Amino acid sequence: MAKPSTTFTCTACGAGHARWSGRCDACGAWNSIAEESPLSAGPAGRSLGARRGAALALSDLATEEAPPPRTCSGMAELDRVLGGGLVPSSAVLVGGDPGIGKSTLLLQAAARFAGAGLSTLYVSGEEASAQVRMRAQRLGLESAPVRLAAATSLRDILTTLDAERPDLVIIDSIQTMWSDTIESAPGSVAQVRAAAHELTSFAKRRGASVILVGHVTKDGQIAGPRVVEHMVDCVLYFEGERGHQFRILRSVKNRFGPADEIGVFEMTGAGVAEVANPSALFLAGRGAPAPGSVVFAGIEGTRPLLVEVQALVAPTPHAQPRRAVVGWDGARLAMILAVLEARCAIPFAGLDVYLNVAGGLRISEPAADLAVAAALLSAREDVALPPETVIFGEISLSGALRPVGQTENRLKEAQKLGFTSAILPSDDKTGGQSGLSLTRMGDLTAFVGDVFGAG
Ligand code: TYD
Ligand code: MG
Repeated sequence: MAKPSTTFTCTACGAGHARWSGRCDACGAWNSIAEESPLSAGPAGRSLGARRGAALALSDLATEEAPPPRTCSGMAELDRVLGGGLVPSSAVLVGGDPGIGKSTLLLQAAARFAGAGLSTLYVSGEEASAQVRMRAQRLGLESAPVRLAAATSLRDILTTLDAERPDLVIIDSIQTMWSDTIESAPGSVAQVRAAAHELTSFAKRRGASVILVGHVTKDGQIAGPRVVEHMVDCVLYFEGERGHQFRILRSVKNRFGPADEIGVFEMTGAGVAEVANPSALFLAGRGAPAPGSVVFAGIEGTRPLLVEVQALVAPTPHAQPRRAVVGWDGARLAMILAVLEARCAIPFAGLDVYLNVAGGLRISEPAADLAVAAALLSAREDVALPPETVIFGEISLSGALRPVGQTENRLKEAQKLGFTSAILPSDDKTGGQSGLSLTRMGDLTAFVGDVFGAG
């Protein structure tokens, strides 16, 4: 029996469904499923390689079609996230909330890449050319050799690209592009997918690099970048809190370099600026040691990063105490509260718990467990931790502390920023040469007794 053709697609994750339902079983999003007309067959005969239908030995390929080298923009934070510069024939997706600064970052990157010798075309589907030019003036880039086009029709854009043969194309944004061969509205899953497909095949065919901007949407009104994630070589997310000036460019997928790498930027009046020493920035504004504040020595991608973890614990007026988390995983907080309660007999029932990672950063490392536990205990007992101390380590459900990777790098960064001591898991035997005074702990009970006294 033939499989029924998919006519409903989740706008959040792109999963196909045979019929409409209120909730997507694939990603759990509510009200995100939209009807989609089946894709019409595209022009036949296009293939990615030069030799249609013929297979080559891997070794032949290496000598015959050695790829041209990567191009560096000179913005070190961006180049590192890309895995060491922009790869020719590649497609990069830059996702992020509306207004976070994607257009600003990419206009600056366009000017840098153009300066490095790539012929660059910036296609804006959201702003008129005059508006893009005004932004360029504000950024001091009005004389950069970047060509601009304001267009949304995929057919017009592909014609322009075939005529101009740029080395780098920036499409801002993929949700505004539409193809006249598809009936659904711009921003729908079918349109976004078709536009991404045409543009990535252009990249492979002509050896150009394509950067696609994609808005992340929470309400599922327009198709999110997830729909195109698997079509591109590299997926970067530009994140940050609107109220903070810090912005993080994070790679979540990279076929040509390490994923999980981050670049740190700062939003200024004159565009985004690179932050060379992010630890100093994230710790800026930290006053005298206060209860509930702990410095976590983390690793983001290949780089150590110190951040302040803050906790507030207060008696709750409600029957159900609040657990609010910003910048960390809520489920992991619940786990640590449960371990503190079960293994150390420190209850948090009847107490509201607020946890915040200062500076608008999001941490996903389990190595932050011990720093979070320390912040919670310090807030609960109203006792400040020893000054100039960094903390890291993973907590297992038994209450034991598990070693984490890259101890040397964490300690070196802490020492560079003037910290004098560190608390870490005792199973970790490395880090002896760091020059910091190290306190090694076997389990959470020992940590509680040692740092907060037996009571
Ligand atoms: P934008 O790049 O348009 O965001 P996106 O393309 O992700 O939607 O940036 C919008 C915000 O950035 C806007 O609120 C103003 C701010 N901004 C600055 O702070 N400095 C600048 O130099 C520029 C150009 C924008
Ligand atoms: Mg924009």
